[in-house]
Amino acid sequence: MARKKVSIVGAGHVGSHAALWLALKEISDVMLIDIVEGMAEGKALDIMEAAPVEGFDVSVRGSSDYGDLAASDLVIITAGLPRKPGMTRSDLIGKNAAIVKSVVEQVVMHCPQALLMVVTNPLDVMVHAAWKISGLPPERIVGMAGALDSARLRAFVAMELGVSVEDVQAMVIGGHGDEMVPLRRYTTVSGIPVERLLSPGKVDAVMERTKKAGGEIVSLLKTGSAFYAPSACVAEMAEAIIRDKKRIIPCAAYCKGRYGLDGVFVGVPVRLGERGVEEIIEIDLDTEERKAFDNSVAAIKKLAAELKF
Ligand code: APR
Repeated sequence: MARKKVSIVGAGHVGSHAALWLALKEISDVMLIDIVEGMAEGKALDIMEAAPVEGFDVSVRGSSDYGDLAASDLVIITAGLPRKPGMTRSDLIGKNAAIVKSVVEQVVMHCPQALLMVVTNPLDVMVHAAWKISGLPPERIVGMAGALDSARLRAFVAMELGVSVEDVQAMVIGGHGDEMVPLRRYTTVSGIPVERLLSPGKVDAVMERTKKAGGEIVSLLKTGSAFYAPSACVAEMAEAIIRDKKRIIPCAAYCKGRYGLDGVFVGVPVRLGERGVEEIIEIDLDTEERKAFDNSVAAIKKLAAELKF
């Protein structure tokens, strides 16, 4: 069977590391694309030269020609500016919207059959813009954010308890911004509710740290934003799609009717497979969780209103 093809537009920190994870796990062939001449080719070649050492047999190529998107099964958009200290994700909106628009136009031209994953921030609004511009059915487009926010929460719980990350499950829904909604009731350690294992104050602290986790890294790096965990989550979602794994992962998905919403991209648990967002799973939210979720949706809509799409 021919290997699948995943293209990544934006060969910066997130894009190039996503290419490396995909190659290491032999998930697909990879095409890295960047507007900076030579950059994607150089990084792809560098990854291929690691192949004999790590023993992966997929092809990773780079290009600055959008024509090389042809025949992609999945296109991942990581093109755009990252945050600098003092910036919120929302501050990126104008510049990144223009970049996402130009990239999506190329995707539609060269591989209209591909599924689309958006990573560029501010995430929820960028996915919505990409969907509008692409004209794709909404289940074929998804945003990567909840996977990352949940991974961060899992890491913090494991650090706090001194247990294996493998045993920690967590769910963060809502927008990928300050109003994200980490769900303590759905955070467990081998099935044990986290609230049985940590004091209420400690649970509050890990939830709050999760909400600010992106900013914590931005303020440490000073020159850009996180990329190891984001790219690992990109690869996790790409694997779910390419290998049709039917994983249940929180992703930015189009909710119309679901969760009582009227047509907005927001982070909710979805079943991810070869058809993209195959199902949106509606979980029970108590009054407080629902209030926080609605608040997060309102923040996305407010930001979206700045972009007239
Ligand atoms: N087409 C292709 N590539 C582009 C375009 C474009 N129109 N515009 C910008 N790029 C490329 C840049 O040349 C750069 O290599 O996108 C890349 C972005 O890489 P970085 O600056 O390293 O940013 P990164 O940390 O990877 O973050 C990218 O993902 O997590 C989000 O908030 C983050 O929006 C940001 C995006």
